[in-house]
Order: sequence, then C-alpha cells, then structure tokens
Amino acid sequence: MQFSVCLVWLVTAVVAVRTQSTQGILDLVKRRLPDHVDIFEFRLTGNETFPISTAIRDINDEYTISSTPEGKILVEGNSAIALASGLHRYLADTVHVDIFWFIGSRLDTEPSNLPPLDQPISGSSIVPWRYHFNTVTFSYTSAFWTWEDWELELDWLALRGVNLPLAWVGQEKILVEAFRELGFNDAEINTYLSGPAFQAWNRFGNIQGSWGGDLPMEWIDDQFELQKNITKRMVDLGMTPVLPCFTGFIPMAITRVLPNATVVNGSAWNGFSTQYTNVTFLEPVDPAFEKLQISFISKQAEALGNITHFYTLDQYNENDPFSNSTDYLSGVSNNTMKSLKVADPDAIWLMQGWLFYSSSTFWTGPNVEAYLGGVSDNSDMLVLDLYSESQPQWNNARVKSYYGKPWIWCQLHDYGGNMGLYGQILNVTINPIEALANASSGSLVGFGLTMEGQEGNEIMYDLLLDQAWSESPIDTEAYFYNWVTRRYSGNGPIPSDLYTAWDMMRTTVYNNTNVTTQAVSKSVFELSPNITAILGRTGHHATAVTYDPSTLTDAWHLMYSATTSNPSLWDNPAFQYDMVDVTRQVFSNNFNVVYSSLISAYKYPSGSTNSTIATLSQNLTSLLSTLDSVLLTNPSFSLSTWINAARSQTDNTTLQSFYEYNARNQITLWGPNGEINDYASKSWGGLVSGYYIPRWEIFGQYLTEVPFVNYNATVLSKRLLDFEEGWQNGTSVQKVGVQENLKSILGDIM
Ligand SMILES: *[C@@H]1O[C@H](CO)[C@@H](O)[C@H](O)[C@H]1NC(C)=O
Ligand SMILES: *[C@@H]1O[C@H](CO)[C@@H](O)[C@H](O)[C@H]1NC(C)=O
Ligand SMILES: *[C@@H]1O[C@H](CO)[C@@H](O)[C@H](O)[C@H]1NC(C)=O
Ligand SMILES: *[C@@H]1O[C@H](CO)[C@@H](O)[C@H](O)[C@H]1NC(C)=O
Ligand SMILES: *[C@@H]1O[C@H](CO)[C@@H](O)[C@H](O)[C@H]1NC(C)=O
Ligand SMILES: *[C@@H]1O[C@H](CO)[C@@H](O)[C@H](O)[C@H]1NC(C)=O
Ligand SMILES: *[C@@H]1O[C@H](CO)[C@@H](O)[C@H](O)[C@H]1NC(C)=O
Ligand SMILES: *[C@@H]1O[C@H](CO)[C@@H](O)[C@H](O)[C@H]1NC(C)=O
Ligand SMILES: *[C@@H]1O[C@H](CO)[C@@H](O)[C@H](O)[C@H]1NC(C)=O
Ligand SMILES: *[C@@H]1O[C@H](CO)[C@@H](O)[C@H](O)[C@H]1NC(C)=O
Ligand SMILES: *[C@@H]1O[C@H](CO)[C@@H](O)[C@H](O)[C@H]1NC(C)=O
Ligand SMILES: *[C@@H]1O[C@H](CO)[C@@H](O)[C@H](O)[C@H]1NC(C)=O
Repeated sequence: MQFSVCLVWLVTAVVAVRTQSTQGILDLVKRRLPDHVDIFEFRLTGNETFPISTAIRDINDEYTISSTPEGKILVEGNSAIALASGLHRYLADTVHVDIFWFIGSRLDTEPSNLPPLDQPISGSSIVPWRYHFNTVTFSYTSAFWTWEDWELELDWLALRGVNLPLAWVGQEKILVEAFRELGFNDAEINTYLSGPAFQAWNRFGNIQGSWGGDLPMEWIDDQFELQKNITKRMVDLGMTPVLPCFTGFIPMAITRVLPNATVVNGSAWNGFSTQYTNVTFLEPVDPAFEKLQISFISKQAEALGNITHFYTLDQYNENDPFSNSTDYLSGVSNNTMKSLKVADPDAIWLMQGWLFYSSSTFWTGPNVEAYLGGVSDNSDMLVLDLYSESQPQWNNARVKSYYGKPWIWCQLHDYGGNMGLYGQILNVTINPIEALANASSGSLVGFGLTMEGQEGNEIMYDLLLDQAWSESPIDTEAYFYNWVTRRYSGNGPIPSDLYTAWDMMRTTVYNNTNVTTQAVSKSVFELSPNITAILGRTGHHATAVTYDPSTLTDAWHLMYSATTSNPSLWDNPAFQYDMVDVTRQVFSNNFNVVYSSLISAYKYPSGSTNSTIATLSQNLTSLLSTLDSVLLTNPSFSLSTWINAARSQTDNTTLQSFYEYNARNQITLWGPNGEINDYASKSWGGLVSGYYIPRWEIFGQYLTEVPFVNYNATVLSKRLLDFEEGWQNGTSVQKVGVQENLKSILGDIM
C-alpha cells in the first residue's frame, strides 16, 4: 500500500504539467524577421497546460494585436499558437508579406518600418483544433526533406494557426528496438520494412518489404534524429504533436518468435504480389500487442519526452478487417485502446476516417458503430473526416457523426502529389461552417488539411485554415485579392492584370462544382500512352478539366502582360513559380487537343497517311519539349530536385543508387512492376523530357507502324513497360537551369 502510493506520487511528479512560453514565437521572429526582433512584444494571457490530454479541448485560441505608445507591435494571445496566428494576421493583412511552400519566407521583404496599427485587431478561432498532414504526405512530399525544409514547413504551420500536426518521421527506430526486444532478429525485421519512399504504406499495413534494396539502419537512425528536431520545434511553437504508436502490423516471423501469437494476414493491396502485401497483423487481444505498445510508447517518450498524448493509429486503411463480426470489431478497438491506456493513461487515439469512404461496403452502420464503440470514452478518440469537401462521411447514415467520437473536418484536395490547378472554393468555405452549425454533426472539434501530397494550389489550403477563424463563409473575392497582394509583395506595385487573372481563376479553376471530379486533376501526358480511356477521366485520379480552358489561357496572358507594366515581377520568386505553374496547366490543356486530333486521325483515317500520324505525334512531343524547358527554369518543377534530395541523404554510393531508385519508382511505376502505375506522376522538367516524351515517341512510332485495325494493346504495353522499367535504374537527370530563363522562353511562346 505504502509502495503504490509512493508510485502514484512519483508519476504525478514526473509528468508535472507545464504552461507554454513565448520563446518559440520569438525564435520564429529571429529566424524570419531578424531586423525586427525588437519591435514585437508577445504576451501570453492563457493558463492552459501542456500536454493537452483531451480530444475535446474546450478552448478557442484568441489574439489581439495593437500598437503600444512606445511604438511596439504588441501581440497578446491565450496560447503560443494564438500568438503566431496573431502575428501572421498582422504580417499578411497589414504588412502584406507571407511565407509560402516552394517559395520560402518572403517575410523579410517588408518595409524597413513596420506600419503601426490605428485600431487593435482581434481574432478568435471557431474550432479548438487545426490539424495538418495526411499519413501519406510523409512519403509523397517530405520523404527526402532536410531539417531546413522542415523548418519552413513548421513556421508555415505555426503562422497559419495549426496546433495539431502529425509527426510521423522516423518511427522505424522505435519499432526496430521494440521488435528486437520481443525476439526478432535483424534479418526478419529487414524483410518487413519498406524503402524510403514507401514507408507510409508499410506503417499502416498495406505493404511489407522493399524492392530494389533493404532499408538501411543508417536511414532509420538519421530519420529519427530528424524527428527529434521536428517534435521539439513543434512543442516550442505551441503545437501538440501527434505521434506514432504500435498498430499491430508485424514481421511475418512472429510465428517463429511467438508460435502461439494470434495473427491474421489480411491485406491484398492494389495488385501487389503476396510477397509485398499480405501483411501480418497481431491481434490486439494477444498479450504481445500490449507488450509492444508499452515498449513503443515508453521508448518514444524516453527519446522525445512526454510531449503529447495523441497517437495516430490506422489498422484498416484500404485493408479490411479479418472478420465482419461486430464482436470482433469492437474487441479489436477495445484492446487497442486498452494497450494505449496502459502505456499512457491519457492516450488519445487519432484515426483517419478514410476507411469508411474507401471501403464503404465493408463498413456498414453496425460495423462502424462496433469498431468506434469498442472505445467507451468518446474523448479518448479523435477521427479525421479525411475528405470532407467532396466525400464527407460524418453526415451519412452509416457513420452518424462517428457515433459521438469527436472529429475534424478535413480538406483532402490532392491525390499522390498530382499537380493540376484545382479547388472548390464553395465547399471549402461553406461546408465546414454548415457542419459546425449543424446540431447533428456531433463533436466537430477542428478543421484540417489532409492532402496526400503538398503540391501547389496553396491558396486552397490557406483558405480552409483561415476559415477556422471566421464564423461565416469567407468572401473569396476579397480573400483572393488580399492573397495576391501578399503573394507578390517586394517588387513594387502589383499590376491590376495580376488581380484580374487570379479572379478569373477563382471563378473557374478554383470553383469546381462538378461532382464527377472531386480532387486535383492530373495531366493526360503523365499517363502511359493509350488510344483510349485517358482523356476526361473522372474518379480517383481524374484527368477531366472542370473549366473552360480558354479562360485559363486568358488569365495566363494577363499574368504575362502584367510584366510589361512591372518588369521586376520576373525577379519575384512567387511570380516565377506561379507563371511556371500556370504555363504548365495551359500546356497540359493544349496537349489534350493535340492528342485528340492524333487519335481521330488514327482511328478514322479518311485521307490520313502515315506521315499525317507522324506529324501529329511530332506535335505532341514538341509541345512537351517546350514545356520541359519552361519547367526546368524552376527547381520546384524539376526532377533533379527530388532525386538530389534522395541522393543527398547519404554518402554511401550504393545507398544513393537505392534511394534514387525509390525516388524514381514512386513517381512512375509505383511498385516493382507498375502496380499503381503513374499514380504519383509529376509535371517536372527532366521527367517530361526523360520519361514522358520517350513514352509518347514509342506510342507515335507504333501508330505509324500499325494501322488502327491491327492495334494490339499487349504489344504496345510491352514496349512501353520495357522503357519504363529501364528508366527506373537510370542515374542521369537533366539539371535545373541548363535552359534559358523563363522570361525569354515565354517571350518566344506568347
Ligand atoms: C485558467 O483561467 C480560467 C479563466 O481565467 C479559469 O477559469 C481557470 O480556472 C484557470 N485554470 C487554471 C488551471 O488555472
Ligand atoms: C537538427 O537541428 C540542428 C540545428 O538545431 C542541426 O544542426 C541538425 O543537423 C538537425 N538534425 C538533423 C537530423 O537534421
Ligand atoms: C502453445 O500452445 C500449445 C497448445 O495450446 C501449448 O502446448 C504450448 O505450450 C504453447 N506454447 C507456448 C510457447 O506458449
Ligand atoms: C500470407 O502470409 C501468411 C503468413 O506468412 C502465409 O501463411 C500465407 O500463405 C500468405 N498468403 C498468401 C496468399 O500467400
Ligand atoms: C514520461 O512520463 C512517464 C510516466 O508517465 C515517466 O515514467 C517518464 O520518466 C517520463 N519521461 C520523461 C522523459 O519525462
Ligand atoms: C460477413 O461475412 C460472412 C462470411 O464471409 C458473410 O457470409 C456475411 O454476409 C457477412 N455479413 C455482413 C453483414 O457483411
Ligand atoms: C473495453 O470494453 C469494456 C466493456 O465494454 C469497457 O468497460 C472498457 O471501458 C473498454 N475499454 C476501453 C479502453 O475503452
Ligand atoms: C460539395 O459538397 C457537397 C455536400 O457535401 C457534395 O455533395 C458535393 O459532391 C461536393 N462537391 C464536389 C465537387 O465534391
Ligand atoms: C461557382 O460555380 C457555381 C456553380 O456553377 C456558381 O453558382 C457560383 O456562382 C460560382 N461561384 C463563383 C465565385 O464563381
Ligand atoms: C462534369 O464533368 C463530366 C466529366 O468531365 C462531364 O461529362 C459533365 O458534362 C460535367 N457536368 C457538368 C454539369 O458540367
Ligand atoms: C504505314 O506503315 C505501315 C507499317 O509500317 C505499313 O504497313 C503501311 O503500308 C504504311 N502506310 C503508308 C501509307 O505508308
Ligand atoms: C489502354 O487502355 C485499355 C482500356 O483500359 C487497355 O485495355 C489497354 O491495355 C491499355 N493499353 C494500351 C497500350 O492500349
């Protein structure tokens, strides 16, 4: 008795809660506005303690910014993230500067004297949580990020008020230690882990093992070091990180280590051979599950500190449960939650709700209710309604607001890091506000961003994060105007043509309402060539263009003509980026027209000769070749950036080749044999010329050789696959900047 009282006292002492500090935001100012450190004053007014131990946080973040008589800009807020949000409001709306993906921080383009405020500005969030990241963003976007890349991302998140980010880097370090402790040897663990560009899917049991090489310990160690920096910075900035934990997926050699362990083999994912899928799942009812959970969470806390109670845990992502019995399903979640609670008494289980959409046949009402109901205390769980702008699940009859579990309204927007210009300004502003007002929505506690890849269309992401601070749907016209003002700051006056161009895009490109295309469209030229089924595709990765392409072409011309009145726009990195991006989309749209004329000449050859076919196919490749040179003017649109990032992770040349293979494979064949071919395709300079153009040449050559009546898909597919497979192991990539600059290339095109 005496002993246990003593233990309780000890535990309480160790996890003694702490309040936040202003140091993190001061450090952010030092990083990004080094000349203005003294002008800002930050004051915390809240007394909330950390780490937060409930999903139903009942506090909204609030800030006030004002000028003091001493000439300082005073930011007051009830949390560190409220201070960051307040600072951002002032910088974005009053100073008109911001920090952007790809472009970096433009905060230091501010005038030397920061403007004082006549009136204080106040803001209050309308939801306590703002979440960021899809589990797969960690593979599609940040697989090869450096600490510098992460620093930019985390400052971006802080300024935009995100307080609940997923921190999913480097967990294999902990996993390997826990597996070794249970009795696995390294060979058994090696056959389980997936390559650097495919870890996300390994972590939730879609795939196991690696093709082209094994994941080295060096990678695992380095990634974990990176995770230490990331989580520390998140905490400093006032965020609550969501950390990994043990999910149940385990090397198949568990049957050697624990012959009596209760395991099932479920996954059969996307056509992968059983060697790479069919992942072994340790049933949560098995005592080893809890043992591994304790081991994982305590090792992680030892290394990273007791920084959070939120754990991400997905067991059935595109991978159905072994049984559809409701007792089984509630038993799985009950034992899973139990294991978390034993490891951390305040644990909160964060789950992506994607399964209820992607596997809606399995997840009948009773099955959803049983799985969620296995956890008795609602506030122990938090569900991400992953694709709320297009396929909300919370409001359907099966999912019923997650049967009382709190949830977050998320914009998914992007599959696989696809790059089309796209947005749904109506659904992203109106729907979350309606959901919040809807009594049947249950506990809606946050808004979030869950893009598979962070790839352009940044304004759509800003829009939802800002909507989290506005009780009524944002007026997008004024919003776009303000956004353009801060986007292009630093190079003199912004020509009205630029505002007009963006407003044209707002009402077309960014106003999709066609429910057959619900996420970013990819370019047809990125798909393996075919005479059918690639144009106007709808569904999971669509190619349909949802607006009149001529409107975008007009906007593109306006952006170009804006440089006549302000030539220094060519020196503005945001303008350069956007000009390449819009040019990319205009070319992509034009490609569809040229492609269509080739296919009709081929299929309906009234008077078409082989030389007509040859000419038309030549038009296709020369269009792509021009596009390639435009893309190569900008590192953010260049294959070499992605590949160099992969290779720079190590000094070991064998490993460099393996990482490069991973980087190439993810964006092309996606799997050893093209299992998810072209899913994560990219319009990148060097990839267009080195991969897509050769494929279209093979295609064009075939069409000139073989008349339509003899078209043989098998023969052509084989030729294409031979090329695609050969490219995987290549090492030569066109470098950025080998071409002329953007201005002169566009001057020739316009
Ligand atoms: C924090 O402040 C609020 C409002 O001032 C007060 O109601 C609450 O009791 C305080 N909480 C703590 C833990 O001090
Ligand atoms: C972590 O941050 C420090 C600087 O604070 C840096 O020197 C180090 O390289 C970073 N670690 C990794 C793995 O990037
Ligand atoms: C496994 O189960 C069998 C049959 O119930 C039993 O005989 C054996 O002792 C168990 N082995 C272990 C290691 O628990
Ligand atoms: C899946 O893996 C299990 C365990 O390793 C094995 O027994 C089973 O045969 C595999 N299934 C298939 C279809 O190969
Ligand atoms: C974290 O908290 C646990 C108790 O919940 C304690 O045993 C452990 O020492 C703490 N770790 C650190 C690094 O503070
Ligand atoms: C559950 O699975 C069994 C066996 O596969 C099947 O017969 C039954 O129809 C399923 N029930 C439901 C409700 O899906
Ligand atoms: C597991 O289920 C039991 C029985 O319904 C319940 O009392 C217990 O609270 C559940 N455990 C968790 C962690 O939710
Ligand atoms: C917009 O939201 C509504 C309501 O959720 C939905 O029915 C519609 O499909 C969404 N539009 C698109 C383009 O996804
Ligand atoms: C967006 O499209 C819808 C449907 O076509 C239309 O009603 C609405 O006015 C448009 N909104 C904007 C801002 O363009
Ligand atoms: C929606 O898109 C599909 C596919 O591009 C197209 O067939 C259909 O006509 C569009 N619907 C409307 C109302 O524009
Ligand atoms: C076109 O090429 C095919 C295959 O080389 C050949 O059979 C056919 O005669 C050619 N037609 C013309 C009009 O040259
Ligand atoms: C083209 O698409 C069709 C229909 O999906 C498919 O049967 C064929 O194999 C594909 N490939 C080629 C090279 O035609």
